[in-house]
Amino acid sequence: MRPISRRQALLLGGVGIAVTAAGGAGLIWTLASPPDPVAGGELAQPPEERSIDGQLQVRLEAKPGQILLAGRQAAALGYNGGIPGPTLRVRAGDVLKIKLVNNLAQATNLHVHGLHVSPEGNGDNIFISVQPGDTFDYEYKLPGDHPPGVYWYHPHHHGMVADQIFGGLFGAIIVEDPNSIETSAERVLVVSDITLDSLGNIPAVPAMERMMGREGELILVNGQSNPQFTARPGERERWRIVNACVARYLRLRLDGQQLQLLGVDSGRFHTPETVDELLLTPGNRADLLVTTAAGGSVLRAFYQNRGSMPGMMGQGSEPRTPGAQPDGTALATLRVSGEPAAPLTAVPAYQGPGDLRTSVVSARRQIILAAGMGMGMGSGMMRFTINGREFNETRTDTIVAAGNVEEWTLTNTSPMDHPFHLHVWPMQIIEESGKETSTAVWQDVVNVPANGRVKVRVAFKDFRGRSAYHCHILDHEDLGMMGVVEVR
Ligand code: C2O
Ligand code: CU
Ligand code: CU
Repeated sequence: MRPISRRQALLLGGVGIAVTAAGGAGLIWTLASPPDPVAGGELAQPPEERSIDGQLQVRLEAKPGQILLAGRQAAALGYNGGIPGPTLRVRAGDVLKIKLVNNLAQATNLHVHGLHVSPEGNGDNIFISVQPGDTFDYEYKLPGDHPPGVYWYHPHHHGMVADQIFGGLFGAIIVEDPNSIETSAERVLVVSDITLDSLGNIPAVPAMERMMGREGELILVNGQSNPQFTARPGERERWRIVNACVARYLRLRLDGQQLQLLGVDSGRFHTPETVDELLLTPGNRADLLVTTAAGGSVLRAFYQNRGSMPGMMGQGSEPRTPGAQPDGTALATLRVSGEPAAPLTAVPAYQGPGDLRTSVVSARRQIILAAGMGMGMGSGMMRFTINGREFNETRTDTIVAAGNVEEWTLTNTSPMDHPFHLHVWPMQIIEESGKETSTAVWQDVVNVPANGRVKVRVAFKDFRGRSAYHCHILDHEDLGMMGVVEVR
């Protein structure tokens, strides 16, 4: 048996009475370390659903069950029994219809993260609540000029988002390219994290970890622990990477291979950018080309310091990163051997959605992200606020005139990073830590560093209605770090 971890100590502290009452067996179970994950299986791909003749209709059933995670049975949540749920492949101009079936024991709903679609009615409406046993028919109409790229879907029921995503409710959405890019293989890599106890259950998450943003002990790719796959030298693979972790930042490296980034979120670059490292905050996606070199490489996630909590002393002042190792955590292993492949044609240039740096700005706003001790110190919970307020779904915080371009200054007054996310309308980053960006960078989740500031511009075009912006450390969102925007 391994020594008792801090998490287990915390859990024992919290459930001490229950454990005593359960007797010796209960105590031993609680103390037993979870078995090591089964690593190294062949990389699996989630099932795929593809639109035909401009339409894709799918049924997504959210349900608890025994699901294979890291090679062991886990009591988790899945869409259609899998983690991740099916990959949905659509094109600009398509209609995507999703029948959400809620067979969870609690309310849920669905959000299509990053898609530029209407937030009203049965569109990407996060104010809908689907009760246990109920179903809801969502319908999303993608505009004809919708940017291609990697998107994803997940629940958005306030107060339960972190738990439901941590439990396994997420899946990828791909908006196909108008002009296809030649590749030898395409892989969806949905990265998530989770903690499982010795019985395969997800332990309760202590308040301290919620405030810091929980990081699971296992980092999974498509529900697997360090899966492997093979290629020949000189091939061009396309990897669609989603950071579906509740709070973990992924600093990814694949040393020894040539990496070209096509884009992040809905922001496709004009031409691919050569990179050797990639930082994905929770909610970000990367569209990556990998040109393979003989021998192979391990995709690794390195520790990313995302700051500390205000006013915390000693332990707990650092984010918990279980399993954080100096040489990173192995996420997946690529082996490259055999006859070199013939080179493929060049990647066509992409004409982006324009550049708001030269636009007329109709309004400038300040968005202040803060974390601090609450009034009721007794609760021990900190307050996570935007412009001094916690989320209230009946209140509209920001009213924008349809069609306007606005400039938002995102200011973080806390000593920890917050990844800021706006629904429906993508953000163009204008200025980061006092420096103007030299190219047009579009993202829907933008990291606002501890005590830092980022300026973005948003074109509030095409749709009206109420939607949200929030911190994509989903524990912070659930704790109230979210506001309502209405475009009129
Ligand atoms: Cu992926 Cu409102 O979020
Ligand atoms: Cu979103
Ligand atoms: Cu946050």
